[in-house]
Amino acid sequence: KTKIDLEDFLKTILPDQKLLKFLSLARDISKKRREFLYFAGGVVRDYLLKRLYKKRIPKPKDLDLVLQGNLKSFLKELLEKVKGQILFESQFLTYKVKINLNGKEFLIDFITARKEIYEDIAKLPKVFASHFEDDILRRDFTINALIIGLSPPYEGVLIDLVEGEEDLKKGLIKPLYLNSFVDDPTRIFRGIRYKIRFGFNFSEDFFLALKKCFEKSALKKLSGTRLANELKLYLTKEPEKNLKNLLMTTYELNLFEEAELKINKKNFNSLISLLKELKGEISEREKEKIFLFGLVDSRFLESLYRLGFPDSEIKELIKYKKLIEENLSNWEKLSLWEKIKIFEKIPSIYLLTLGIYFPKIKKDLIKFFKEYRKVKPELTGEELIKLGVKEGKEIGALLELIRKEKIEGKIKNEEDEKNLVIQFLLNKSKN
Ligand code: CTP
Repeated sequence: KTKIDLEDFLKTILPDQKLLKFLSLARDISKKRREFLYFAGGVVRDYLLKRLYKKRIPKPKDLDLVLQGNLKSFLKELLEKVKGQILFESQFLTYKVKINLNGKEFLIDFITARKEIYEDIAKLPKVFASHFEDDILRRDFTINALIIGLSPPYEGVLIDLVEGEEDLKKGLIKPLYLNSFVDDPTRIFRGIRYKIRFGFNFSEDFFLALKKCFEKSALKKLSGTRLANELKLYLTKEPEKNLKNLLMTTYELNLFEEAELKINKKNFNSLISLLKELKGEISEREKEKIFLFGLVDSRFLESLYRLGFPDSEIKELIKYKKLIEENLSNWEKLSLWEKIKIFEKIPSIYLLTLGIYFPKIKKDLIKFFKEYRKVKPELTGEELIKLGVKEGKEIGALLELIRKEKIEGKIKNEEDEKNLVIQFLLNKSKN
């Protein structure tokens, strides 16, 4: 146990100074109730990392505030003093709280100090409110098991029961106990993320815990949704930066195979470059889907089922994959417009995925996404009617023709479009 400069700690980790007052209120209540309040996990780790390596650290995404005591009643008291509400209460004795401080809203996670009991391999644990020591020892890695006390009996004290600070200095990712990955195999993927994010190494214990996990087939027993959710976290704001490293480490540790996921290593580069080139063109949701779809070797559908994709989406993917395959041997000979007509039949998520599976179509596909799909005629249907085009099918056909000529670069502006229409009407009257 070492003393810590609380003021400096709070200043560093709080995303907004408005939270200081809120926090001091929470501390007062915990003192009055004689319930120990502390910060744990990422905020403490990142603060110590900053102190050790003098590196700038991003403000934490979430603040994990832990209370050894009756959290529900604590929050009730707190929310009588500050505007806010409990948004969500989980089965794990945690609460997501929204507070309003001078018109600004903040989300804070409150957690009950707890003990976890894993009754089944790779299944979520049963949890019980407990002592802070149990709450430390239930955690994934030593570097995540440090806490900083905010109220007596350990106000302003860094508590390190597992030599976590030493491992931060050594740069080691070390599980707290041998069965850690049997209980919760998602921790392996968390460990990989920390390894890459901080440039750390796995400890010997990491590999022993991994061996144990493989022996018990725990990764096979991990649910598809949890597996997919964990992999999705590989996608950061700039996936191209670390994704290759994350995927290669996962591959080298044989985790994909152990989790019964058939993936195609050759797709890694294609996937990463596609995400990079289409940055800004695709939504976060699309990005996640493409990432998981793209990772899987499309010859093995059971892998898609393994990741929890619904039957309907998998069937769609197969249907569109077939469509591309039918045209693949002939791809270079197709005209630009013919390619576009094929692309337009395929919804974007599947189309992008197929761009990963079939490098041959990738260049055209990127151009399609960035440019061609956005090309629209300046003229509207009504303006065509004014120019003398008959209402009905002809309008659609002409608008399509304008689009085609624009994409092929034959016409450029509204004037050109009008001329094209007039030419069309003239030809028609001649026939
Ligand atoms: N934790 C754990 N096992 C998990 C998930 C989380 O033991 N499978 C514990 C770790 O001690 C972790 C804390 O819960 O530090 C909070 O988890 P989370 O918010 O996911 O991670 P952070 O540590 O805050 O780190 P980051 O978000 O920066 O990855």
